[in-house]
Amino acid sequence: MAARGRIVWVSGPAVKADGMADAKMYETVSVGESKLIGEVIRLTGDVAFIQVYESTSGLRPGEPVVGTGSPLSVFLGPGIIGQIYDGIQRPLRELSKKSGSFIGRGITTTPVDLSKKYRFVPSASEGDEVGPGSVIGSVKETDLIDHKIMLPPGHPGGRISGIVPEGDYDLEADLATVEGDGAPPPVKMYHKWPVRKPRPYRERYDPTVPLLTGQRVIDTFFPMAKGGTGSIPGAFGTGKTVTLHQIAKWADAQVVVYIGCGERGNEMTEVLTEFPHLKDPRTGKPLMDRTVLVANTSNMPVAAREASIYTGVTIAEYYRDMGMDVVLVADSTSRWAEALREMSGRLEEMPAEEGYPSYLASRLAEFYERAGRVRASGGPDRDGSVTLVGAVSPSGGDFTEPVTTHTMRFIKTFWALDAKLAYSRHYPSINWMNSYSGYLADVAKWWGANVSKEWLEMRGEAYGVLQREDTLKEIVRLLGPEALPDDQKLVLEAARMIKIGILQQNSFDEIDTYCSPERQVALLRLMVRFYRDGQQALKDGASLEDIRAMPVVGAMLKARMEVRDGEIQKLDEIASRMAAQFGELAGAKVRN
Ligand SMILES: Nc1ncnc2c1ncn2[C@@H]1O[C@H](COP(=O)(O)OP(=O)(O)OP(=O)(O)O)[C@@H](O)[C@H]1O
Ligand SMILES: [Mg+2]
Repeated sequence: MAARGRIVWVSGPAVKADGMADAKMYETVSVGESKLIGEVIRLTGDVAFIQVYESTSGLRPGEPVVGTGSPLSVFLGPGIIGQIYDGIQRPLRELSKKSGSFIGRGITTTPVDLSKKYRFVPSASEGDEVGPGSVIGSVKETDLIDHKIMLPPGHPGGRISGIVPEGDYDLEADLATVEGDGAPPPVKMYHKWPVRKPRPYRERYDPTVPLLTGQRVIDTFFPMAKGGTGSIPGAFGTGKTVTLHQIAKWADAQVVVYIGCGERGNEMTEVLTEFPHLKDPRTGKPLMDRTVLVANTSNMPVAAREASIYTGVTIAEYYRDMGMDVVLVADSTSRWAEALREMSGRLEEMPAEEGYPSYLASRLAEFYERAGRVRASGGPDRDGSVTLVGAVSPSGGDFTEPVTTHTMRFIKTFWALDAKLAYSRHYPSINWMNSYSGYLADVAKWWGANVSKEWLEMRGEAYGVLQREDTLKEIVRLLGPEALPDDQKLVLEAARMIKIGILQQNSFDEIDTYCSPERQVALLRLMVRFYRDGQQALKDGASLEDIRAMPVVGAMLKARMEVRDGEIQKLDEIASRMAAQFGELAGAKVRN
């Protein structure tokens, strides 16, 4: 029976109602005369605490609260890609058409157009045994997305007793009937799934395949894996959003879920206005043909912000289940945690660190645990992944605050943005001494087999140079560079070249914005050879001045912006010139 209660108290997005004995935890409820959408987040006796996803202004004690019987769910079917949703999957474009703003209240819209027809191509036949997750056919959702129609995870399965022929159907059409235990419902193009419950899968794999982003400091130094987790913490203005945009644009994934979570309205407007015009660099099709935006700006109701990451990750899992690689980026999880804090404060819960609720850590864990590379349920075999990347915005760049420290417990890749680097215009300002990737060993095999056998060794050597520079910097600071012998000065010089020629990458430069794995390796090889040959040249009696003065050095530093992906042989030419110039140094020594 649906719970029917009355509002007794309203505090911002939090509402208390009594007479709610029949309600369940996490049940969605309709709140007040204007039927706002809310969710039960605590039950004590017949009193329910409800977070309301829409503005509660004008809501009064005494107004009715009615249970819907179902948990907060998302609607999963063709039509999701290309949409811009709020945190509870209401389509913002429709909403603003109906109410004149993005935050109209009590408006019912469906997340996708149920009457739109898609051409369904069946892949299963009458008589086939199917179970939860089984694919029965597909529709072309966009030019880039072949959308598999699956039995919902909760479906009892059975034997297909009828399936429609290829043709155009809307989302409500019954595509297949199934005979089995418990009178299985007919299969439609869509189903619903509760956002707080991870979608099931058959098997989980180790994250051994890199998620390539075309960003060198990520792919070469602190790689992400498909199905992995990562975090980009950084103070105000250090480049979190730009980095997430680069991942959303360039990652080798089929679907991107971009969650704008509590960021300033204008920052989100940039995404909302920029993304729809962007082209997928690989296919030339609109980027929105593979992207879903979930937007909850700082002026939108705070509870919907809390829900937005669950809505986003559930959509991501749905496309994963079709056998796709999905990347979800969230900007910023700090704003999400603040929403959690605000709700918790309204409910007068006992605060833990810095006013955040004690369950902050478990909520973060629940979110990041939904990443993974899996074999989907049901046949035929499909492997897909959900990669989760969250920006964190610690105030003042203090990484010891609770959201950063708890996040670090649950993620495996940490790209630490550094205000000093950003200030000196070293972008991306990912600090190579504070960042790490737990996937390095996992993805090294892939790089070895697919790009270069020397990858791991060269990466280690280049990273070693950076580490040694970090120690030497201290001596230089105290005693000046002249205190160092030439071989250590060469470390500084090689580190400078790695920083300028590899780590720095201009997102706004047409050539530099994306760097293929092959070009990354060629640039890495160039810098590593410079260091190796330089050491040898010093041993053979050359001076550091001679090495620095080699004309090829300038070309090496500019190569990332001048050599395109299709012209990697030009990097080999630079390498030959470098070898020749080192040869000349040696020759000059011999002649002397
Ligand atoms: N890879 C990059 N290449 C070139 N410029 C960059 C790069 N990364 C960041 N920038 C510069 O830094 C500026 C700030 O970056 P961004 O907006 O991403 O910071 P943020 O950390 O998201 O800031 P906020 O805390 O305000 O959200 C950008 O407008 C851009 O000028
Ligand atoms: Mg930002």
